[in-house]
Amino acid sequence: MEKFVIQGGNRLTGEVSIGGAKNAVVAVIPATLLAKGRCVIRNIPNISDVSILLKMLSSMGASVSFLDKSTVEIDTTHIHNPTVPYDLARYLRASYYYLGALIGRCGRASVSMPGGCHFGVRPIDQHIKGFEALGATVSIDHGMINAKVEKQLMGSHIYFDVVSVGATINVMLAAVRAKGLTILENAAKEPHIVDLANFLNTMGADVRGAGTDVIKIHGVDIMRGADYTIIPDQIEAGTYMIAAAATGGDVLVKNVIPKHMESITNKLIQTGVEVEEFDESIRVRRRGPLSATTIKTMPHPGFPTDMQPQFTAMLTLAKGTSVVTEGVWDNRFRYVDELARMGANIQVDGKVAVVQGVETLTGAPVKATDLRAGAALMIAALTAKGTTEIEDIYHIERGYEDVVEKFRSLGADIRRVETPNLEIPAAL
Ligand code: EPU
Repeated sequence: MEKFVIQGGNRLTGEVSIGGAKNAVVAVIPATLLAKGRCVIRNIPNISDVSILLKMLSSMGASVSFLDKSTVEIDTTHIHNPTVPYDLARYLRASYYYLGALIGRCGRASVSMPGGCHFGVRPIDQHIKGFEALGATVSIDHGMINAKVEKQLMGSHIYFDVVSVGATINVMLAAVRAKGLTILENAAKEPHIVDLANFLNTMGADVRGAGTDVIKIHGVDIMRGADYTIIPDQIEAGTYMIAAAATGGDVLVKNVIPKHMESITNKLIQTGVEVEEFDESIRVRRRGPLSATTIKTMPHPGFPTDMQPQFTAMLTLAKGTSVVTEGVWDNRFRYVDELARMGANIQVDGKVAVVQGVETLTGAPVKATDLRAGAALMIAALTAKGTTEIEDIYHIERGYEDVVEKFRSLGADIRRVETPNLEIPAAL
């Protein structure tokens, strides 16, 4: 058991460099299965989601070795066990990308229902609809999703009922190896969808239109290993931008694609923050008070749901009343109770949170309820008077590399400490 102990009140200043995108790398690692050969993936973030996905690959027979801290070599020549068991899948949602990749590679897969952050119901009906349209038979039995292709995957025309990042990626992974043309309509457009398509094309696939809502895939028989560099993490970058703004700091966020940051940049400017864009970096500085604003999260290019908790944490200190509407998930305000213990004034009604700005937050013991909720608590803690202790930081370490070192280098007073297991006395 570990926790973060944060002494708030320091303005963040200096430079921070952003790592590879979690939500891209978690699709690219399973995609390496689509070629029998060797891939080198660069700009890999040092996060636990990556370690678990690599462990899954090894358990299938792939050989995995790090060439340096952020470069991994994966050889998928020999795959003998197209299965992802519960004890690994339970840690993260993206484990289900092995379904699409294994269907494409082996024509069969058995993957445990995935874990990941809890935002209410997280159905996978659109993934299954897509696999079935390509000719796979899919069943769910005792928590295992089993897929099998009798003859060959066949290209198909698939219209997704909802815009889903996961379904777009998963079906793309299988369709690159299907015979003929697959058209995905109402596809998700996130930067990581484009990154995966670029990786697949580097492996010899023929994917066009990624980044728009219609993706056309001409299936190919053979794919080859590739050398590929993951894009920078939009959400990690946004988190440091908001942390800089919330603490009244001045930070240069390096190794970003400013175009990916536009919806976040725009909202920061609306709240009175100065944002200056360069080719591959963004400077965020706040000299005046924060003003309230409205936010509605939407699929890309809208304001990302994965930035909603962090932005809300900052708005707790803005002058006036802000309204935050969650447009993607049913229940992504669980962290609000934790912020309330730090003195935030937030009323939640279903998918809408009304935030009444307060002068200051105060340190308190809190719990990360999921990955971005944890990031939001870190931001709140950095601004707060006094000490905040954040528990369940494994959520945060799933998606933020070297988070203590990075915040420390910006002047934050943060420590990661071991907490003794609490012995609960047996009932008399
Ligand atoms: N949905 C369905 N049916 C499906 C799939 C999704 O109804 O078959 C619904 C969901 O219930 C949700 C909406 O569609 O209301 C969007 O879900 P989506 O499938 O796009 O989400 P996801 O693929 O499960 C990814 C990210 C999340 C991010 C969402 C939205 C990964 C590994 N996860 O999840 O990231 O919130 O897209 O952008 O890429 C995070 O990084 O903190 C995180 C949670």
